[in-house]
Amino acid sequence: MTKQRKLDHIKLALENKNQDNVNYWDQVSLPYQALPEKDFDQIDTSVDFLGKQLSLPLIIGPMTVPVDDSSFKLNQLLVQLVHERGVAFALGSQRIMIENNLDKRVKKLRKLAPQACLLANFGAVQLNYGWGTDQVQRCIDSLEADGLMLHLNLLQELIQPNGNTDFSGLLGKIEKLVKQIKLPVIVKEVGFGIDPATAKKLYQIGVYGIDVAGKGGTNWAKIESSRRLDSWARPMFEIGWPAPHLVEKIAGLKPKEKVLIASGGIRHGLHIAKAIHLGADMASMAQPFLTAAQSGYNNLINLYNRLSWQYKVGLMVSFNNKQVIPDSGINQ
Ligand SMILES: Cc1cc2nc3c(=O)[nH]c(=O)nc-3n(C[C@H](O)[C@H](O)[C@H](O)COP(=O)(O)O)c2cc1C
Repeated sequence: MTKQRKLDHIKLALENKNQDNVNYWDQVSLPYQALPEKDFDQIDTSVDFLGKQLSLPLIIGPMTVPVDDSSFKLNQLLVQLVHERGVAFALGSQRIMIENNLDKRVKKLRKLAPQACLLANFGAVQLNYGWGTDQVQRCIDSLEADGLMLHLNLLQELIQPNGNTDFSGLLGKIEKLVKQIKLPVIVKEVGFGIDPATAKKLYQIGVYGIDVAGKGGTNWAKIESSRRLDSWARPMFEIGWPAPHLVEKIAGLKPKEKVLIASGGIRHGLHIAKAIHLGADMASMAQPFLTAAQSGYNNLINLYNRLSWQYKVGLMVSFNNKQVIPDSGINQ
């Protein structure tokens, strides 16, 4: 994987035309209660997740790895926010770190946020392309990660020039990995969604969390299509499961000790409240953090403050209660 590809992704993800045409969270209504018998000032939005206390049930979704000075700066800003405000943060795919020996730069990020909840990340398909325990352990150790977020990005790999398209036998390899590593594993998509049948199988093989990463936000068919010389992928812009639909369906089959994360088009704090109303334990949001970070740290703080206030209003006016996230059962 080239550094240039990662840098192209950032540039393209910032363009509005690469967002989905529909935000499905806007179509979900949050039931309103007129007399909640709660004091707004006493609303507690904090949660415990992977042995860390978070101020909101929110993860900054995986996007980038420090491949050069500008992406280091970007990650530094995000990690600073996570350190000061207490949300969780997932690093972008560490494949590029492994291939370019960038472990030291990733270690620096952990030093900036020693107590934060940080998640390692790579594509599960790498397990079919020569990755074994060594690479996986490097991803975890460089970040001193609290958990591992594996991504399934099937359609992205199919559309992208020279993608890794052998997805055979992966369930068994994920199962082996879950048993080998001593960290909770969360499996996510990248915006086309984890279908309920796959989510069920993943929970059954010991995966702790599913992040639906459904359709309605950043559209990777559009992004990868614009990196091709032809227009063959245009019909694929419509593929994917609307994120709220997945949350509802997977919440209905999720074992109670497992975790469900809503993402794909989460754009404000009321979307987080809606996701929780539909049965998610927490939410994750990616692209808006990238956009905010372009204009500096104050913008990130503003984004956090806005999300936090909106979510708190959502908790006050809805029937949602304070979130309790099931423990992973693994000593972090
Ligand atoms: C610039 C960019 C890079 C991304 N890189 C990764 C990645 O390396 N690994 C991953 O699991 N997801 C990656 N994603 C997908 C996001 O984590 C997320 O699943 C997706 O963007 C949908 O969320 P959103 O609508 O809030 O952006 C990336 C997203 C963006 C915007």
